[in-house]
Formats: sequence, C-alpha cells, structure tokens
Amino acid sequence: MRIMVTGGAGFIGANFLNLLVPRHGEHHFINADKLTYAANLGSVAGIAEAENYSFVQLDIADAKAVAEAFEEYKPDALVHFAAESHVDRSIEGPRAFIESNIIGTFNLLEEARKRWGKGNGLFHHVSTDEVYGSLGDTGMFVEDTRYDPSSPYSASKASSDHLVRAYHRTYGLPVKITNCSNNYGPLQFPEKLIPVITLNAAEGKPLPVYGEGLNVRDWLYVTDHCEAIWKVVNEGRVGDTYNIGGNNEVRNIDVVKIICKLVAQRQGKPTSELESLITYVKDRPGHDLRYAIDATKIETELNWSPAETFETGFRKTVHWYLEHPEWIGQVRSGEYRNWIEKNYTNRA
Ligand code: NAD
Ligand code: TYD
Repeated sequence: MRIMVTGGAGFIGANFLNLLVPRHGEHHFINADKLTYAANLGSVAGIAEAENYSFVQLDIADAKAVAEAFEEYKPDALVHFAAESHVDRSIEGPRAFIESNIIGTFNLLEEARKRWGKGNGLFHHVSTDEVYGSLGDTGMFVEDTRYDPSSPYSASKASSDHLVRAYHRTYGLPVKITNCSNNYGPLQFPEKLIPVITLNAAEGKPLPVYGEGLNVRDWLYVTDHCEAIWKVVNEGRVGDTYNIGGNNEVRNIDVVKIICKLVAQRQGKPTSELESLITYVKDRPGHDLRYAIDATKIETELNWSPAETFETGFRKTVHWYLEHPEWIGQVRSGEYRNWIEKNYTNRA
C-alpha cells in the first residue's frame, strides 16, 4: 500500500512512523505535514533516509495543495493524524482548529472520494475521547456514547468525526475511526501536562496545576495507541468506530506527584523538594472533569491490549525527556516561549 500519514512530524504521527516504517518495507509511507509549531522533523530523523518513506510539506486546509499531493504521491490509504491538538490554544484562538481540523479533514475526504471512487481506498481518521465531553465520578465512554464536546478543540474533532462518518454513509468511502484517551510518551510537544511538568521539575521551575488538580485523565502510552491504530487499519471493520484506552485513570495531582518522584530519583533529591514546586493556577474554562475509555470492543474483536503499564510507561517517558536535551532544544523556539508566557501569565 501507499499510505499517506498526515501530521507525521507531530507527537503521535512521528511515533507511528518510527514504529512502522522499519517494520513494513512492503508499504510506502508518505508523511504529509504542514510543520506547524507542534511539528519537528527531528522526531523522524531516524527514518528520513528509508526507501519506503517520503516527506511532503502540506497544509491540509489548502484544497489545491491536497489535490496536488494526491496527484504526486497517489496514496491508496490515509492515516489522518494532522490537527491542531492543544485545548488551551483552542481557547485562546479557535480559528486554526476550525481550518485544520474541520476544513482540512473535509479537503482530504473530498480528494479521497473523488480519486478512489466508491468502495476503494481506506480513510483512517484518528480522533479523541474528548468528543464525548465530560464524565462525572462514574461511567465510561463506549463507541456509541453521545457526542458532547466542551472545547473548541473537541468540537472541531467531533465535527471532523461526523464528516468522516457522513462520507461513508453518503458516498461509500471506506472509513474507520479511532477515538483514543490521553497519550503520553517520547516526542510530545512540551505544552501538554506530562512534558511540561517533567521539564519544569527537572529545571526547578513551578509545576502549574489547573484548578485543584482533581480532573481525571485515562493515560495510554503512545506506541500502544499506534499499535491499536495499525490493528484497526488492517483488521478493523470498515465504517466502524473503535475506542482505545489504557484503563489508567489518574487525577492530575497524582500524575504530577508521580513525575516529581521519578525526576527526584534521577536527580538524587528528596521528592518533597520537587513537590514543593507544585503551584495551583487558574482553571481552564469548560475543563472536563473526567475521561475514561471502555476499550472492550477493540480488546475482544481485534485482540488488542496495551503492552505498557502505567508504571513502565511513565518511567520510560520521564527518563526520555531527561535524556533528550537536544530534542527539547529543537522544539523550544521563540514561538514556544511566547506560548508559555501567555498561557501561564494569564493563569497567575
Ligand atoms: P501534535 O499537535 O503533536 O501534532 C500534530 C501534527 O499535525 C503536527 O506535526 C502539525 O504540524 C500537523 N498539522 C497541524 N495542522 C496541520 C495542517 N493544517 N496540515 C498538515 N499538518 C498539520 O498532535 P498529536 O498529539 O500527535 O495528535 C495527533 C492526532 O491524534 C490529532 O488528530 C489528535 O486530535 C489525535 N489525538 C491525540 C491525543 C493525545 O493525547 N495527544 C489523544 C487522542 C487523539
Ligand atoms: P493536556 O495535557 O492539555 O491534555 P487534555 O486537556 O487534552 O486532556 O492536559 C491534561 C490535564 O492536565 C488537563 O486536565 C489539564 C491539566 N493541565 C494542568 O493541570 N497543568 C498544565 O500545565 C497543563 C498543560 C494541563
């Protein structure tokens, strides 16, 4: 297959390509990425010279550019990661989320249906559990939980999910959708909770916790997510949705304390010294209380289960950030510093 992977220079896309390009010489992977602030070609440097890999800089919000990329690379499958992905940024400025996540997905769908014709090709759409909105203290998201997004980010992803499903029902485009819980692991841009806290703890800076730190996220190690997507691409039912999650519900404050412990161990410091850096800051507007995925469908139908536990995955992740200062340096551009100042000054 010729598989176009959109957003392959971002966190999950890069982990996906790093895992699959070396393993699947029978497929050609085309990394199509706009290279926004969240991208780093250094994240895919290890596969850049592989014979079954190409890179094209592409803004999926540009319909003409999407048509040209399809013409040149002739993909027969698409794994669609590209998106603006950070909730706080979507609150500060939603427009890019509408353009990339909704219009961008629409442009890809249009091109796929026109080129492939009814019943041909595969459009795999990578989405999030945030489309389902917030849970209270109990319950879990299943595949037919009603959509109820809270942020401009989750609303834009919900919108793209609906478009993907509509193209299947209306035009017979073969689609698959996966909705996954929060990912963590190497190569995540340091604006999300786990890299922010790890790097700040390592550098003795304040550890910003929104609200009271009681919000719960269901954490999954990134390569477990990538393996699940690959399973759905190869074995999932066309037209179906699969929820992916790690059964690892943790309150934010507990995530922060675990990171303090792991960083302190590495630095030979008492954990209490790093915990004293915890700083409660203004909450996120519309902050979803709790996410939890019921992954029974993918576990039973496709025999998928995560390889990493919370303990092994967290240790690996924290150590990776401490051991890759060159990667951190690459992504901490001027734009990054502006964001950190804006987000956390507003919350002081
Ligand atoms: P990321 O922000 O790290 O990377 C996104 C990538 O998409 C970047 O390389 C960026 O350059 C690219 N991109 C953005 N707009 C583009 C455009 N208009 N055209 C082409 N490329 C563009 O995001 P991520 O965390 O890797 O998330 C990837 C996908 O997985 C997203 O669709 C996201 O909604 C979904 N997802 C993420 C998580 C998570 O915890 N991170 C969980 C579930 C689902
Ligand atoms: P985030 O990593 O932004 O993922 P998402 O909002 O998509 O779940 O945030 C994870 C949780 O951590 C969320 O409840 C918000 C919280 N959070 C903080 O408490 N402090 C921070 O500095 C960040 C970035 C997030």
